[in-house]
Amino acid sequence: MVGKITRAYEREVKEGDVKMASPKFGMSILFFFLCISFCSSTDQSFQQCFSSHLPPSNITYDVIFTQNSSQYSSILQSSIRNLRFSNASKPRYLVTPYNEDHIQATIICSKEHHMHVRVRSGGHDYEGLSYISDVPFIVIDLFHIRSVMVDIKNEYAWVGAGATLGELYYSISAKSNVHGFPAGSCPTVGVGGHISGGGFGTIFRKYGLAADNVIDAKMIDVNGNVLDRKSMGEDLFWAIRGGGGASFGVIFSWKLKLVRVPPTVTVFKTVKSLEQGATKLVQKWQNIAYKFHHDLFVHAVIQVTNPNSNQNPTVQVSFDCLFLGTTERLLSSIQRSFPELGVTQENCTEMSWIQSVLYFAGYSIAESADVLLNRTTQSTQSFKGKSDYVKEAIPKTGLEGLFKMVVEEETSVLILTPYGGRMKQIKSSATPFPYRSEYLYGIQYMISWDVAEETGKRIGWMRRLYKYMEPYVSTAPRAAYFNYRDLDLGRNSYPNTSYVESSEWGLKYFNHNFNRLVRVKTLADPHNFFWNEQSIPVLRLE
Ligand code: FDA
Repeated sequence: MVGKITRAYEREVKEGDVKMASPKFGMSILFFFLCISFCSSTDQSFQQCFSSHLPPSNITYDVIFTQNSSQYSSILQSSIRNLRFSNASKPRYLVTPYNEDHIQATIICSKEHHMHVRVRSGGHDYEGLSYISDVPFIVIDLFHIRSVMVDIKNEYAWVGAGATLGELYYSISAKSNVHGFPAGSCPTVGVGGHISGGGFGTIFRKYGLAADNVIDAKMIDVNGNVLDRKSMGEDLFWAIRGGGGASFGVIFSWKLKLVRVPPTVTVFKTVKSLEQGATKLVQKWQNIAYKFHHDLFVHAVIQVTNPNSNQNPTVQVSFDCLFLGTTERLLSSIQRSFPELGVTQENCTEMSWIQSVLYFAGYSIAESADVLLNRTTQSTQSFKGKSDYVKEAIPKTGLEGLFKMVVEEETSVLILTPYGGRMKQIKSSATPFPYRSEYLYGIQYMISWDVAEETGKRIGWMRRLYKYMEPYVSTAPRAAYFNYRDLDLGRNSYPNTSYVESSEWGLKYFNHNFNRLVRVKTLADPHNFFWNEQSIPVLRLE
């Protein structure tokens, strides 16, 4: 099915864009005349360089799109998820590789032409770092690299970095109803960015992060070498499983360990407003959700609600549960540990794991799993996100102040994700993601808006909220989740970044693992070719 989509996309690709000829044909006459009609000499030189670094057998079409190309805009926009960046600086070229050779050639030629590279898989970066930059740059968009090969007998899958989580989940479920993979809930998120930054979802209390379940990877390094786990070595393999792939190279594919899920899982959702006692429920939730059995995941989603137009806005908290087992087992556990939630058989729905994926993605469980293959869902909104981690339950007064601030902004959403379970068992240095045993839960703060003029006000509110939360969340460092990228935490100077400067944000994301990431980066990319506003810095002897 994934192959079908690729073919469908290919059919959509119209004639008339820059066609790259294989070196077998040299710089063909046709290509030459196409180029002089709309390419600058730099474009021509880049394209010549690209062709010259491909093996003769690699015939390539529709790989490089210049700003003059008719498809440039639609490809660039296709996976911009945050409209805050839709008018930002544009890449000089979009490269849409079909194989490793194209990526190798792009890296080599970008270096020769002094251009930066940004790599995009699903385009969900909160700060748009996969497709914007203040320095001349090229975007390598991996949407063609998305084959998924599932081996149920040996319980693993090889997945192209440009595949989405939806494509991965779909492909697993097409082969087995008792296997799954522990990653995020949004099906359009790309596996390239998601897994290299950690990746958690509804079954991570049982199985850990997506990055904890990577067995091998293929990556193209700064010299254009294609590396696997063995040839990159354990340090680099460690770094790309949570430290962000973009600092180290271009991840081509992941080999993932599939996990066993039961044939029946159960979900429920209980929504309470402040007037219905939500504050007390959150107080209790903070102290128990991280202790629940590994099979039980209950997160709390805080948002504004207007019960009817005559009433003032208030806050509601939705407790959404996924249980890896039947209703009967779930009820015996939740009614004992959290009776105040009032969960009964009527609130619970049994389904397969893949239906629970649809459910948490906001689809009806009656829908065909094919909807998970839709990667073109366009966002119509701008947003700003931030994150925190909590080690001690926030007191009632702290929660009340938080809810007051939430009511100020109708489009704000806070998601409280319980840790514990498997996350507590994995050592905090096992991968670059350090927030394991001491943490009760993580918080994601999110605000969205439609109108560009509102940007300042919304971001201002988000920063005030973050300030307000300071006394209640982790300190030294104030922990943050790398996959919820936040440039307010700090950004690298260009072109040279000092270790001290990067520590501002680096320690928040990676804590004690930051130093090891710096050492790995220094060896893997000593000239800091893979620089971005929050890439791992290179150690320099000053
Ligand atoms: P994108 O393509 O923007 O890449 C993100 C970063 O990774 C960039 O720096 C990019 O250069 C780099 N990168 C991408 N592909 C690479 C490759 N092949 N090699 C090297 N570097 C590469 N997170 C979570 O843990 N659980 C969740 O449930 C969700 N849900 C969610 C929903 C929505 C709507 C959004 C917008 C985001 C999330 N996230 C999330 C956060 C998500 O995990 C995070 O934004 C990922 O980095 C997105 O990966 P993409 O490949 O989609 O982004």
